[in-house]
Amino acid sequence: MTNIEEIKLAAGILRKGGLVAFPTETVYGLGANALDPIAVARIFAAKERPSFDPLIVHVASADDLEQLTSQTTDLARQLAARFWPGPLTLVLPKSSRVPDIVTSGLPTVAVRIPDHRVALELIQTAGCPIAAPSANKFGHLSPVTAAHVRKQLPDIDYVLDGGKTSVGIESTIVSLEGNACTLLRPGKITLQDIETAFPGVFELQDGKTEKIVAPGLLKSHYSPTKPLHLYDRQQPELPPASGVILHGHADHEPEYRRIIYTSYNQNYLETAAHLFSSLHAMEDDPGIRQIFIEPVEEHGVGRAIMDRINKAVYQYRKEA
Ligand code: TXA
Ligand code: MG
Repeated sequence: MTNIEEIKLAAGILRKGGLVAFPTETVYGLGANALDPIAVARIFAAKERPSFDPLIVHVASADDLEQLTSQTTDLARQLAARFWPGPLTLVLPKSSRVPDIVTSGLPTVAVRIPDHRVALELIQTAGCPIAAPSANKFGHLSPVTAAHVRKQLPDIDYVLDGGKTSVGIESTIVSLEGNACTLLRPGKITLQDIETAFPGVFELQDGKTEKIVAPGLLKSHYSPTKPLHLYDRQQPELPPASGVILHGHADHEPEYRRIIYTSYNQNYLETAAHLFSSLHAMEDDPGIRQIFIEPVEEHGVGRAIMDRINKAVYQYRKEA
């Protein structure tokens, strides 16, 4: 496990403008000093990420929110107090301290406090906010272990290994421009969780928010390097060398090359936690030529899981 010496080393690299991958409770992030535009430019280069896709800034204390944003509303403070540290990202009008490269020129900035000891110690030791997208090549599978990071980004300066992440899918993102609260990306913290804590907070109700998207939220994303298709339990025949990812026990287990269960009983928190690792395992298995993944129902965290699955299968749809 990560010790304080490793964290000091990683913090020193960040202060000198280098790139450090680090664990959060959601997925691994590829971090740089958010206040150093040259360091942030290295993130875009390493990930081959288009410059129109802005980054999330990670802080260790809610006080830092005031430094990075202008017009911090009461609602923002209340959401932060209720859900931070945790997998909720708030998008607010940015302050002049935040370099334009971080926000891709947008007047807003995305901020969160991750709920992970290593991430928090890294931010505190470095003494600066850390801009970090997920630590994968643009469009590919998100990393939930240090090995996943090294597979896609072998050349970055340092990887802090904090074991497998617990949540397994990226943070929920809400925009708080004006006084409206809009869901930009579903995650473990659901719209219902936020509505329960703050009744009536969403100006646009669920279902009407679909058209409002974060700039980086493309139809195709999170893809493995092997063809991925949706799996239907009624589908009797699959091609040879198929890997199948299921989310609940199968009475009659079909004979495929390999089956991975993300959960044995449709527990969507378990499925989220094992979603990307099951896809990485199939991607890395030389005996597997194509992957089939079962859909989940879009309630609760299921909505965030289906968001990732739909984007991951998107580029392979026509080949099915
Ligand atoms: O859980 C997470 O959020 C992980 C960990 C590392 O914190 N990070 C992550 O970052 O998922 P990334 O870059 O893979 O996804 C961030 C998303 C992008 O789709 C981007 O477009 C959106 O956040 N975003 C960032 N700044 C924004 C802004 N100012 N307005 C709207 N969307 C923004
Ligand atoms: Mg990402």
